[in-house]
Amino acid sequence: MIKINNDKTIISLNGFSYVFDLLQGRVFARLTKDINSLKPITEVKEDMHISYPLSISSFGHIDFRERMLHINDENQYYTYRFIFKGWDIINNFVDKEYFPHSNHKNKGLKITFIDESESVCLEQYYFDYEKDNTIVSFIKITNLKEKAISIKRAMSLQLDFEDLGYHITTFTGKWAHERHITKNDVNYGVFKNSSTCGCSSSFNNPAIMVNNDQLYCLFNLIYSGNHMSLVETDHNDTTRVLIGMNDFMEDIKLEKGESFVTPEATLTIGENENEIRNYSHHFIKDNILRKGTDFPIIFNSWEAAYFALDKTKWQKLANLATSVGAEVYVFDDGWYGENRIDETSCLGDWYLNSNKIGTKEEIKSYLKAKNLKMGLWIEPEMCNMNSQLFKKYPEFAMKFPNLEPVLMRYQLILDLANKEVIDYLIETLTNLFKDMEPDYVKWDYNRLFTDVFSKHVLGGNYVYKFYEGLYRLMSTLCQRFPDIIFEGCASGGSRFDLGILNYFNVIWTSDGTDAKERVFIQDGTSMVYPLCTESNHISISPNHQTNKRSSLEDRINVALFGQMGLEIDLTKASKNDLNTIRKNISYYQRNKDLILNGDNYVYRDENNNVISWGSINKEKTEAIYLVVSLNKEFKQVKFNGLNKATIYHLSFRSQTNIDKETFPDLSGEYLMEKGITISTLFQESDKEENEIGIASRTIRFTAVNK
Ligand code: GLA
Repeated sequence: MIKINNDKTIISLNGFSYVFDLLQGRVFARLTKDINSLKPITEVKEDMHISYPLSISSFGHIDFRERMLHINDENQYYTYRFIFKGWDIINNFVDKEYFPHSNHKNKGLKITFIDESESVCLEQYYFDYEKDNTIVSFIKITNLKEKAISIKRAMSLQLDFEDLGYHITTFTGKWAHERHITKNDVNYGVFKNSSTCGCSSSFNNPAIMVNNDQLYCLFNLIYSGNHMSLVETDHNDTTRVLIGMNDFMEDIKLEKGESFVTPEATLTIGENENEIRNYSHHFIKDNILRKGTDFPIIFNSWEAAYFALDKTKWQKLANLATSVGAEVYVFDDGWYGENRIDETSCLGDWYLNSNKIGTKEEIKSYLKAKNLKMGLWIEPEMCNMNSQLFKKYPEFAMKFPNLEPVLMRYQLILDLANKEVIDYLIETLTNLFKDMEPDYVKWDYNRLFTDVFSKHVLGGNYVYKFYEGLYRLMSTLCQRFPDIIFEGCASGGSRFDLGILNYFNVIWTSDGTDAKERVFIQDGTSMVYPLCTESNHISISPNHQTNKRSSLEDRINVALFGQMGLEIDLTKASKNDLNTIRKNISYYQRNKDLILNGDNYVYRDENNNVISWGSINKEKTEAIYLVVSLNKEFKQVKFNGLNKATIYHLSFRSQTNIDKETFPDLSGEYLMEKGITISTLFQESDKEENEIGIASRTIRFTAVNK
């Protein structure tokens, strides 16, 4: 709810308020649990001994913290002192076409500022998602004067705290190790979480949580390009958080009358991590995702066959995939072009290689007979230099005219800032989808930016223009093919962000399919993103990335908590293993609704050795938990999120590597406060099989006194 007064505006959230006070042309913005505890600001002084909590900041005031805006003009003047002009309620805001955004912007606040020299107008927007304790914010900058201006930094959201001592959680990693939970403290100085490699990256996800004991704030960005968050504690013991596009290489020229709108930032507020997790999940499910949460079980050919995806191999895999209960067969890399036998050629040539895997008719009728839908892997933003595409349209690739480009994975990125390239891709992919009629498309992106050049973008701001092109491509195809399920991918989870999720509901979480590594990856990912967005496949042991052995049961337990699928070479699986997979796909189908749509609660012991993740229904009568011990000992596992007074019956998913475990029915209070000790008795076979040193169980809780 938003209430506007003459000199005060309040956005009410669930238990928190965002309070805007107006004084002497400045807007003070504070987030608080208790409005009465806010000290009134009675006068504004330009004084380096005071750091005011402001809604915006720019160069020119006595405020030497990191600023939201850096603008200069052709004379290199940087001083822009913005003065409040008015605030309005915005009803039913119309979003920019072809750019990711939160849906349902029913009610918002617009604050308008104009700088002292009346050259630039700044509009700041806040939209209230009260139910999800989330605010969406962005700014719009308009050049009012004849002379051009250049925006060197435009952050989407600023939040100032009037104290210090905040902790920071970021989601960091690298290929096959994405989004590990990383904790830091902010001391005097600036903490930066950012990406400069052209995408949101596996190195530092855009999400960042800033908290003290009472207040947890999760910031995120609805954007897939270079991002940046800054958290600064200054000499006056205040803390400022900024989130937005990375200002590295940013130079947005605005001529008279032109405007620039930043990507949207989200701010989710709660009193602890579990609250944040659920508010964030609900916000994303209700306002970011395009489709529902229930997707088919896919079999993906990558780890099973890599490029050796010939007709005999894929048909064998398809036979086995259907026999264990998969619903879609996804042809990963290798099905297209003249002869894609490795990474060096054909990328960009999006037509079926019927010599390798059969004609379209053969594929379709084979899959139909097996009751399988068809999925295709594509990587449309790229090309190999050894491809028909590059030979025909060399200017489509992003590279300097007279420099040897850096190749990563033997490929170049296409210049998506060029409208012609987007039109070409829309046409090519439309033809491909019309022709092949896939039910499922895995959309990959496998290299980072190095040779950033385009004659279509003058000055800086290339990355933003690239993403404008990509989003037009993605939204056009999503509109044209509303029934296709798209799965995002970027060398695994290198572009796991709210921009991609606005079009593609599911993202291949990581190429890291080792069960233990997956615990860390999924633990971090699910602190921000709902389980239904994570694509989790059971793969083979020893794992292809870590070369470590793990039990099939541990691999299943971890894959269950998301969109479960298969990546395992089923032709190498034993009869027993196939049986176990079949039984557990059916177990997953029975529990999927609860897993994907329940509220999520996590418990960790103080040494981070034991973790329990639960999905719990609204009534708290049904729950399903994954418990993992990272050192194979379950001294005590507790379960968060239950109803204290309810008595629960615990049924363990039966695992071939452990003896049957039974517990008496226990109250929610007992389970949350005392927890249980699970036997660590493994059968001999498990000891040999399990080189990763974890133990895991899936337990279903059912209320017996509803
Ligand atoms: C990336 C993806 C993999 C697979 C390969 C194919 O690495 O993350 O899942 O699709 O590309 O080349």
